[in-house]
Amino acid sequence: MRDFIFYNPTKVLFGKNKIKELGGMIKNSGVTKVLFLYGKGSIFNNGVYERTAEMLKQSGIDFVELGGVKANPVLSKVREAIELVRAENVNGILAVGGGSVIDSAKAVGAGTLFEGDIWDLFEGKSLFTDSLPIFTILTISATGSEMNPFAVVTKEDEKKKWPFSAGEASFPKVTVIEPEIQFTLPSAQTANGAIDAIAHVFELYFDGTENVDIQDEIAEGLIRNIMKHSKILIDEPTNYNSRAELAWCATMALNGINSAGRSGGDWATHTLEHSLSAYYDIAHGAGLAIMFPAWIKYVYQTKPDRFIKLARNVFNIKEDDIPLTINELTAKLKKYFKSIGAPTQLGDIGVGEAEIEKLTDNASLRLPIGRLRKLNRNDIREIFKLAL
Ligand code: NZQ
Ligand code: ZN
Repeated sequence: MRDFIFYNPTKVLFGKNKIKELGGMIKNSGVTKVLFLYGKGSIFNNGVYERTAEMLKQSGIDFVELGGVKANPVLSKVREAIELVRAENVNGILAVGGGSVIDSAKAVGAGTLFEGDIWDLFEGKSLFTDSLPIFTILTISATGSEMNPFAVVTKEDEKKKWPFSAGEASFPKVTVIEPEIQFTLPSAQTANGAIDAIAHVFELYFDGTENVDIQDEIAEGLIRNIMKHSKILIDEPTNYNSRAELAWCATMALNGINSAGRSGGDWATHTLEHSLSAYYDIAHGAGLAIMFPAWIKYVYQTKPDRFIKLARNVFNIKEDDIPLTINELTAKLKKYFKSIGAPTQLGDIGVGEAEIEKLTDNASLRLPIGRLRKLNRNDIREIFKLAL
């Protein structure tokens, strides 16, 4: 196990009817006026908009609202929100939505205080470690953004979908997770969320670190549980216990618990997927379901033991032969993705061989990628080809 600092300052209010408890906490933090940021409108259909507005009014917190944050959020919307926050003297951000809204809120929170151009922080041209305080009401479990400091935004004109963090300042101060809010999720979104959460566990599990038994047990438990409850939710979207299980697993997949003692994760597959969602605006989870089996096939020889351990412990694969084990692992993974309605190859989203070079260029902007095996341009091209 490697040395680590574990720190997670996000307070989580998990369970039923928690939104109303958030107001007092926002107020106690000294915030008097928030930007109430949300997506394309799902919160108007499940009562979350009204309940949030009521909570703010009851707590005497002034607010200005901005909706329309799209899935795969874009820089232009972040800029619009920063202008609004500055003009309205807002001193906190309340993100009500999924990863797209929460990530935008993090960019707005830092971007408002940063004197330069917010995109410079994504490019790594400046380091900035401050933010307006962020509060979140989570409406879809997937990214873990509700309890981590990361944000991913797309600069539309250059098709760059890149991550950023202002460090500790980007952690939400308080997050509400009410599993019932997710009863209204379309099954495709439930599936996307489950796949993303599994992918986060994979990125960490496969980063090559040895002697992390307890971390591997946690990771394998998370994967088993996410698979089990996501399958239940496809048939029973209002099953509270499964919503709660999936929600907490997705949060834990990327809140630091699961990464302690490891080497920081591999993250090559995420980079490959971000090129897909930057170009075709597909859901992040769908892109990961396409790219993960291809990445496993390409890199497993670097450290076969990691993949065999997962194959045995999670997928119950008993083969002795390594290539056969990997074949069975990727086949079972794809079978699970298909069972919850996800695509598993580029052809399923209408992407053919003619697109490979463009995707390779996009994913090769900052080389090398990955940790288990460092990947360069040629490797990236081959992995996209394996995903065809
Ligand atoms: O916009 P609305 O109308 O709210 O609809 C959303 C959106 O269409 C809908 N939705 C959310 N909650 C709902 C609901 N529909 C009905 N009922 C509800 N309760 O779901 C759709 C997807 O929402 P989105 O926020 O995009 O989903 P997700 O949480 O999966 O976020 C994806 C984004 O986060 C990034 C992804 O790349 C992608 O841009 N990521 C962020 C990470 C992080 N911050 O740590 C890490 C991830 O690896 C990932 O890259
Ligand atoms: Zn992800």
